[in-house]
Amino acid sequence: MTRVAVAGAAGRMGSAVCEAVSGASDLELTGRADPALGVEVGDVLGDADVLVDFTQPDVALENVRAAVAAGVHAVVGTSGWDVEAARGLTADASGIRRANIFYAPNFAIGAVLMMRFAAEASRHMARAEIVELHHDRKLDAPSGTAARTAEMMEGDVPIHSVRLPGLVAHQEVILGDVGQTLTLRHDSLDRTSFMPGVLLAVRRVGSLTESPVVGLEHLLFDE
Ligand SMILES: NC(=O)c1ccc[n+]([C@@H]2O[C@H](COP(=O)([O-])OP(=O)(O)OC[C@H]3O[C@@H](n4cnc5c(N)ncnc54)[C@H](O)[C@@H]3O)[C@@H](O)[C@H]2O)c1
Repeated sequence: MTRVAVAGAAGRMGSAVCEAVSGASDLELTGRADPALGVEVGDVLGDADVLVDFTQPDVALENVRAAVAAGVHAVVGTSGWDVEAARGLTADASGIRRANIFYAPNFAIGAVLMMRFAAEASRHMARAEIVELHHDRKLDAPSGTAARTAEMMEGDVPIHSVRLPGLVAHQEVILGDVGQTLTLRHDSLDRTSFMPGVLLAVRRVGSLTESPVVGLEHLLFDE
């Protein structure tokens, strides 16, 4: 049994993670930390092998620091946190790694596949543009996923951002060439779409050979 604690457990993503962990027969939910529940991250680390963090960019680093110092692996989904600052955290004074850190900007396996296929297609089609569509409470634009997709593709790929109530997280990559277009589309229809990726990371974080590892693709594909 892997013991899992969740930071941000009262939030939208954190509650979905608690439910997913509780429903997995090889995982045990041992802690739910959130100021809204009156429980601090430090209170849940003693009983955990892995801490999953879906909080806010300004607190995730501190939570990860506390986890690693306690020898607890960290799986982070919080957008825009300073993963670079976490690079020095994993080894102790004698250089021994006590715990691993895994971060995925997008835990939806289908979205990671879309990005990979888009990168491949861009090598064969003349031009491409990305349309990303999200709920109207999303503060950043373009989305991290769209920016990363464009980075992975060949050529200059413009991004269009749509923010509307009713949407969750959607992205279309449209490629064009003489007399044809190719459209790759991924839709996250609700937050459960992220859970298979989160559980995969929880199961694998303890056996990473380097740390931090950034991106679900490192757990999905042979490299
Ligand atoms: N990586 C992905 O695939 C993915 C997918 C969806 C959302 N996200 C990101 O996950 C994060 C959370 O999203 P959400 O919609 O659940 O937000 P939310 O606001 O619903 O939840 C965040 C929770 O964190 C809690 N929190 C604040 N400070 C804390 C601390 N110090 N310790 C513990 N908990 C603390 C808040 O009280 C809140 O309940 C955002 O950054 C979002 O962009 C990532």
